[in-house]
Amino acid sequence: MKISKRLIEISNFIEDNTNILDVGCDHALLDIYLFENKKNVKIIASDIKEGPLEQAKKNISKFKYPIKVKLGSGVDPIEEDIDTVVISGMGADTMIDILQNGKDKLKNVKKMILSPQSEWKKIRECVVSLGFYIEDEKLIEDNNKYYLIIKVAKGIKKYSNKELAYGPILLENKSQDFRMFYEKELLEKRNILTKISKYKIGKRRLIKRKIKELERLVKE
Ligand SMILES: C[S@@+](CC[C@H](N)C(=O)[O-])C[C@H]1O[C@@H](n2cnc3c(N)ncnc32)[C@H](O)[C@@H]1O
Repeated sequence: MKISKRLIEISNFIEDNTNILDVGCDHALLDIYLFENKKNVKIIASDIKEGPLEQAKKNISKFKYPIKVKLGSGVDPIEEDIDTVVISGMGADTMIDILQNGKDKLKNVKKMILSPQSEWKKIRECVVSLGFYIEDEKLIEDNNKYYLIIKVAKGIKKYSNKELAYGPILLENKSQDFRMFYEKELLEKRNILTKISKYKIGKRRLIKRKIKELERLVKE
């Protein structure tokens, strides 16, 4: 089974001997790949929509793998023995809704692998408020797009504002992809500044502050 670099990177965060719920599985390609490449995993592939779930069923049936397929919103399809939840390819607000509405259902969950499309700081703040800490994270480039993957585990840890914004582990390593992503953001912000009228003093001040922050981030 061939899958994208992004999905392979997500699978690298998932451990052997786990019971997994994949929320918003869509085609279930990740789940098929996990079944083929991880040892002793139980997998539930779930989605809120019938259409993607039908596609998931079709893909899974080609291989006859015992991957359970369940219709449902967020973590509703969870079962008692699920210890790992994967949520990827969704906007931050959808992901935060899923996590906050499902917090009672997450009581037996030990780890979550999250790959939000946007607003990474909000996601980090949300998982920390739900009693998880950031065990690992990676910022990757795939097909000219950047993706964040965060692995969180149950436990309490305090983070600075900077760590929540840029990632405590990403800041320690500052990979090439990390630098490229924030250099690109820096260029975008400089470009935006050239377009803001000199009379919009407050707006200019905010963007200049962000530019300084990004300059420090990529230089350090
Ligand atoms: C862009 S696809 C991502 C598929 C896959 N997880 C990936 O990363 O490639 C998003 C999927 O999430 C599903 N989805 C959106 N909101 C959801 C929710 N609240 N609960 C479950 N699934 C949801 C959509 O129906 C869609 O199939």
